[in-house]
Amino acid sequence: MPLCEVSTKVPLVTSPVCCCNKLPWEAPLLWPQPSTICCSRGTSTEVEMDMEGALNARDQVGIQDFVLLDETSEAAFLNNLKKRFSKDLIYTYIGTLLVSVNPFKELDIYNKKQMDLYMGVNFFELPPHIYALADNAYHTMLSEFNNHFILISGESGAGKTEASKKILQYYAVSCPSTALLNTVRDKMLMSNPVLEAFGNAKTLKNDNSSRFGKYMDIQFDSEGDAVGGHILNYLLEKSRVVHQNHGERNFHIFYQLLEGGEEDLLHQLGLERDCQHYSYLTQGECPVVPSINDKNDWKTVKNALQVIDIDAINTNHLFGIVASVLHLGNVKFEPDGKGHATLNNKNAELRWVSNLLGIDAHSLQEGLTYRKIEAKTDQVLSPFTVDHAVFVRDALAKAIYGHTFTWLVNRINESMENTDPLRKTVIGLLDIYGFEVFNINSFEQFCINYCNEKLQQLFIQLTLKAEQEEYQAEDIEWEPVQFFNNKIICDLVEERHRGIISVLDEECLRPGEATDLTFLERLEEKMGNHPHFVSHKLADKKTRRTLERGDFRLLHYAGEVTYCVVGFLDKNNDLLYQNIKDLIWQSKNSIVRQCFTSTDTDSKRRPETVATQFKSSLLKLTEILVAKDAWYIRCLKSNESRKSGQFDEALIRHQIKYLGLMQHLRVRRAGFAYRRKYDVFLQRYKALCPATWPHWRGEPADGVLVLVQHLGYFPNEYKMGRTKIFIRHPRTLYATEDAFEKCKHQLATRLQAKYKGYRAKGEFRKQKEAATKIETCWRGVQARKERDKRAWAVKVIKQFIKGYMTRGQAKVTDNSEYLAFVRQNYLNRLKENLPKTVLDKTTWLSPPQVLVETSEILRKLHYRLMVRKYVRGITPQRKTQLQMKFIASSMFKGKKESYPQSVAQSFAETRISERDINARVLQMIRNEHIKYSVPMIKYDRNGFKTRPRQLIFTQAAAYMVEDTRIKQRILYTALKGISVSNLTDSIIVLHVACEDPKEKGDLVMQCNHLFELVTKLSIIANKQNVVRVAQGSIKMEIQAGRESVIEFSTGPEPNVYKAKNGHLMVVATRARPR
Ligand SMILES: Nc1ncnc2c1ncn2[C@@H]1O[C@H](COP(=O)(O)OP(=O)(O)O)[C@@H](O)[C@H]1O
Ligand SMILES: [Mg+2]
Repeated sequence: MPLCEVSTKVPLVTSPVCCCNKLPWEAPLLWPQPSTICCSRGTSTEVEMDMEGALNARDQVGIQDFVLLDETSEAAFLNNLKKRFSKDLIYTYIGTLLVSVNPFKELDIYNKKQMDLYMGVNFFELPPHIYALADNAYHTMLSEFNNHFILISGESGAGKTEASKKILQYYAVSCPSTALLNTVRDKMLMSNPVLEAFGNAKTLKNDNSSRFGKYMDIQFDSEGDAVGGHILNYLLEKSRVVHQNHGERNFHIFYQLLEGGEEDLLHQLGLERDCQHYSYLTQGECPVVPSINDKNDWKTVKNALQVIDIDAINTNHLFGIVASVLHLGNVKFEPDGKGHATLNNKNAELRWVSNLLGIDAHSLQEGLTYRKIEAKTDQVLSPFTVDHAVFVRDALAKAIYGHTFTWLVNRINESMENTDPLRKTVIGLLDIYGFEVFNINSFEQFCINYCNEKLQQLFIQLTLKAEQEEYQAEDIEWEPVQFFNNKIICDLVEERHRGIISVLDEECLRPGEATDLTFLERLEEKMGNHPHFVSHKLADKKTRRTLERGDFRLLHYAGEVTYCVVGFLDKNNDLLYQNIKDLIWQSKNSIVRQCFTSTDTDSKRRPETVATQFKSSLLKLTEILVAKDAWYIRCLKSNESRKSGQFDEALIRHQIKYLGLMQHLRVRRAGFAYRRKYDVFLQRYKALCPATWPHWRGEPADGVLVLVQHLGYFPNEYKMGRTKIFIRHPRTLYATEDAFEKCKHQLATRLQAKYKGYRAKGEFRKQKEAATKIETCWRGVQARKERDKRAWAVKVIKQFIKGYMTRGQAKVTDNSEYLAFVRQNYLNRLKENLPKTVLDKTTWLSPPQVLVETSEILRKLHYRLMVRKYVRGITPQRKTQLQMKFIASSMFKGKKESYPQSVAQSFAETRISERDINARVLQMIRNEHIKYSVPMIKYDRNGFKTRPRQLIFTQAAAYMVEDTRIKQRILYTALKGISVSNLTDSIIVLHVACEDPKEKGDLVMQCNHLFELVTKLSIIANKQNVVRVAQGSIKMEIQAGRESVIEFSTGPEPNVYKAKNGHLMVVATRARPR
């Protein structure tokens, strides 16, 4: 049972999975409540889960699946069909069965766009179409890897062949293609025009009626590529070669050759471009048909012959045969005096036949006019009557044509054959003649209708009966549906020893004078009271009126058909006389030779009759079909006159009835739309439930139960059979299917992610391992380094300690490094900590023992360097200054209290500029270069009064000047001492050698620049050694022989006064400690 054998499809998913990223089992399906719906095209809308509503929304005209009809009446059925037909909607479903109504006009629904639309889309998602069925069969075949067939049935002219062509075209376009596949595809497509040219003809029912049955297997490989094909043909209506009813034509190829054949070719074949010229083409009196363009078709056929690998020689032979048949038809016999047929072997037509078939003209002439009877050892020639001769001629024409047709089919099969031993799946297309009822129905109609009867039986078996039986077998409750089982008619025709075919064969084989009428009598004897058999003799009065004497009527499932027995025996025998056969075997036309040698080798044995052959080929066909999954297309003919837009209700009602569509519909509605073997169902959908994915360990049935419960199926939605699950509504299945579709992607993504993760992890692990390895190596390197470093450090430290311990000893190996280190270290530290100024005597790093000496040298060097730097940087003035300061220092440092404060004050060149010295004075001492002058206060010798004076030192003497006068001149030679106190006062006493009492004695003065004055004087007068720092008092000689004393003391305030004892009292403050 194919996957999509369900009655309808709402293209909607009720599962919330569409709207979230969860896997289906993470969000169980809930139906049929209204829910957010995503259609497979990706739009989402809020739709009530109403199949009819949804279908109506999609296809406003009628109901697109009869299963959804409100009532199952024939009227409703017809009405729906009519409604749709009026809008050119010719296709309607009954579940997966496709009902097609022939529109008799071109509809724009078979283009590439439409094909693309239906490709890979769920069966019920789009309006019904033959492409949907073809696509569904194809995809089911691919997914289940099994064989299928599409049974196209309907009466002649209902559109079966067109349907099969549409399917073939669909596969040609939709299947994957490669250059190689394209040739297979072209061959399959092109086999059609060839077979149609040779096997189709215009009949009263159909301008392009297939006069043979055709079953074509399209073989697909596992990829879905069409890789080969095979055709089985059934019972070509050969009688048409020699006879056509009024309004009908012979097979198309004759007209095509005459209309389209090139001049040369016709000439070569001895033909004239005129159908009227050939008696095999003129009986129907309609060589030209408006709907047929023979000229164009000729081109197509010629091209197609090339495509199917028929080479030029064979093509020539093929047309030779066609032409020979036409010539044969024109062979006329004349009766001689005895009424025997005569034929002149100079007869032009005969010569053409012998020419074209490559057989001897004389033998042919003989074969057509005499029968060779073998009597014991002799051969006797028995002449034919003219009628008999015509019969033999026609038999020859039919035989040649019939065999050629079979040869063609074989050649096509050879060219489409796929020899690849790999397993292939097939889709079979069965386009077989439809049920036929003409005014006069002969052996052919009998066979054709029998075939339809068999196919109906198969259909019943496969659908109705099988359906019921399956329900029973599966223990599923079933309300029996009444249907007509046509087995009774099949049996009537085919039953061994009792059926019509058996009776016919018996009559054919029976010795004695068997005729068509004796056959009828036999039938009447045997079938006497069979409810489906009537003859003139057996009929009641009323019926008898409708029957001729040579007629019998069968009540087929499709209706009554009256057959005329005339020709039944001959047609069933289909015999060629031996001498004709012998003739043909000699043929130089290779096709003819091949045809006959292959089939008629055992000439002695009587071949099976046509009906028996047909019966067994139908049996074989049934076997082929039963082993495959079936798809059905039921073609209905909208009207008999083949007009577009006409909907003949009576005709269609009749077809609906005999095609059993109502029964099929009832079965469909009564039962469950879908069923699947547990393991198959579980295998397909197990991913939808965590308990069944990825493996179900228990019984498949239990797994399915778990699965459907997880999916939220309602109990009335499904039934669990013995081996299968039955699902009532397609919507349930489709929601499941859609969820599965969605889930597949998610699973694929998951698997992909997992795999990627796995790969990435592997990669990561590898990298990590590599990293660890590198790290380990690196660590090893580091550790070894560290170890070496430590060992080295230990050595160094040891050496260091040893060195430390022996640092005081002379340099030996043990301490040499340590000492070097100590030295370097000391020197480095010393470098950073050198004293910055010469005065800094304290900053000097104490040296280690080994460097004491060095340090001292360095220290001295450094100081010398600093001194040198300092000295170099000193100006002459500064030098003089410092020299003076040095002298001052040697005289006063540590002796006079006020000295320290004076050190910082630099000595001036002089304190009184020459301008401030009176000119007279300057005049007076002009010869003595003035070295220094300073203002001071002189203490009178008598009373110690203070007088401001200038003291000027020249080269030779010191002068005390009061304005213009030099008050005292002290020659340096006479200067015998210079005294100052040790206190902070600034009293200076210049002791002068004084012999003369008139002369002024020691000079007592006070000068703020005491140190400067004394220093200068001592330098100028070179009297450093006479400078005295007195303590307590200074004795002085005011005049020669007159002494006085200056007493020094300290007090809070400085003061100088004369004491009562006549001494000069000097009170000095204490110097502030520094
Ligand atoms: N789908 C169709 N669309 C248009 N015309 C069709 C269609 N099917 C059949 N016909 C017309 O009906 C005629 C008979 O169809 P055909 O397939 O030969 O009938 P069958 O094989 O059943 O005897 C075709 O020649 C064509 O004109
Ligand atoms: Mg046909």
